[in-house]
Amino acid sequence: MEKLGIAVVGAGYWGPNLIRNFRGSTDWELRAVCDLDTERARQVVGGSDLLVTADLDEVLAREDVDAVAVATPARTHRPIAERALRAGKHVLVEKPLASSVADGSRMVEEARSQGLVLMTDHTYCYTPVVQKIRELVSSGSLGEILFVDSVRINLGLLQPDVDVLWDLAPHDLSILDFVLPGGLRPLGVAAQGADPLGAGKSCVGYLTLPLPGGAMAHVHVNWLSPTKIRQMVIGGSERTLLWDDLNPQQRLSVFDRGVDLIQQSVDSADRRTASISYRLGDTWAPALPEREALGAMVAEFAASIREERAPVTDGEAGLRVLSVLEAAATSQRARGAQVDVVPADVPALEIVR
Ligand SMILES: NC(=O)c1ccc[n+]([C@@H]2O[C@H](COP(=O)([O-])OP(=O)(O)OC[C@H]3O[C@@H](n4cnc5c(N)ncnc54)[C@H](O)[C@@H]3O)[C@@H](O)[C@H]2O)c1
Repeated sequence: MEKLGIAVVGAGYWGPNLIRNFRGSTDWELRAVCDLDTERARQVVGGSDLLVTADLDEVLAREDVDAVAVATPARTHRPIAERALRAGKHVLVEKPLASSVADGSRMVEEARSQGLVLMTDHTYCYTPVVQKIRELVSSGSLGEILFVDSVRINLGLLQPDVDVLWDLAPHDLSILDFVLPGGLRPLGVAAQGADPLGAGKSCVGYLTLPLPGGAMAHVHVNWLSPTKIRQMVIGGSERTLLWDDLNPQQRLSVFDRGVDLIQQSVDSADRRTASISYRLGDTWAPALPEREALGAMVAEFAASIREERAPVTDGEAGLRVLSVLEAAATSQRARGAQVDVVPADVPALEIVR
C-alpha cells in the first residue's frame, strides 16, 4: 500500500518521539519538519535531506504531505491545525487538543466541514495496559465501577503556559474517557490547586469527578513530588484492578477481592442494617505485550484516513477532556466548589470524502 506523507510541526521535547515513530512506520513517509527553531529541528532529523523549515505555508503547499502532526505548545494548536485543515491536510494534535473548549470546537467543526480526520494524541489509550483495562471493564469482569483513584506525581517541568492540571490531567482524563463505559461524562467536577512555591500557577492539583451510578473518580497530579508515582486503581463490584505503570514486572494486577453488601433491612426502630462480607480471592496479572504506544497511535491515524472513519481518539474525545479541564478551572476559581461540565456543542465528526 502506498505510504501517506506526514509533516511534523514542533520538534521540541515531544515532537522527536512522533518523528521517530512516523519514520519507523510502514504507513508513513516523513516529508517535512517545521519548527520556529530550525536549528533544533535539523538536529532532530539528523543528516537527512528532508524539508526542515520555520514556514508552515511551505509545508502546507506540498502535495506529497497528506497529514500534519502538531507537537507545539497548546495555545498554538488551534491556529496551526486550522491552517492545515484549510489546506486539505488531515491533522493529528498533541494533548490537550486546544487551550479552550471554544478553540477545540472550532477545530472539530473545521475538520468536519472539510471531511478530514482530526485526531488527538491521547497516547496512553494506545498502550497495551490501557487497552487491557478497557477490555476488562467492557467485558464486565470488574462488575459495576465503584471508584477510580489515579495518582500521577513526580518532579515535573513547570510549563510556561499551563498549570499542572492542564499539563498532566489530560492523561488521566483521556484514559477515563477510553475505559469507562459511555466515556468521560462526569456529573460535575470539583478541583483544587495549590501553588506553594509561588510559581504563578498550580503545581499540585486534585480533581474529584462524581460519575453516574454513585461512583467517584479522583485524580491527583503534582509537579513537586520527589517520588514518582503512576498508579491507577479501578474498583468494581466484582474485581478491582491496580495499574502501576512503574512496575514493568507486574504493571497490572487484578484482585478478586471486594466487599459485598449482603442484605439491607429496616428494623423496628427504623434503622438500616446491612451485613457486610469480604471476598478474599486470588490476585492475578494479565499478560501484556511489549510495544510502543506511539507506534500503534500513528498506525491508527493512518487507518482512520484510509478507512475514512473517525479515529479511536478523535477530536471529540479531545473535546470531552477539554470540557472537564475547563470546568476544573472554573471550580478552582470557586475554591473547589463542584461545577457542571458543559459538553461542547459539536455534531459528530463524519468523514464525507
Ligand atoms: N502525548 C504525550 O504524552 C505528551 C508528552 C509531552 C508533551 N506533549 C504535548 O506535546 C506538545 C508540545 O510539548 P513539548 O513539551 O514538546 O513542548 P516544547 O516547548 O519542548 O516544544 C515545542 C516546540 O514547538 C516549536 N513551536 C512553537 N510554536 C511553533 C509554531 N507556531 N510553529 C512551529 N513550531 C513552533 C518550538 O520552537 C518548540 O521547539 C504539548 O501540547 C504537550 O502537551 C504530549
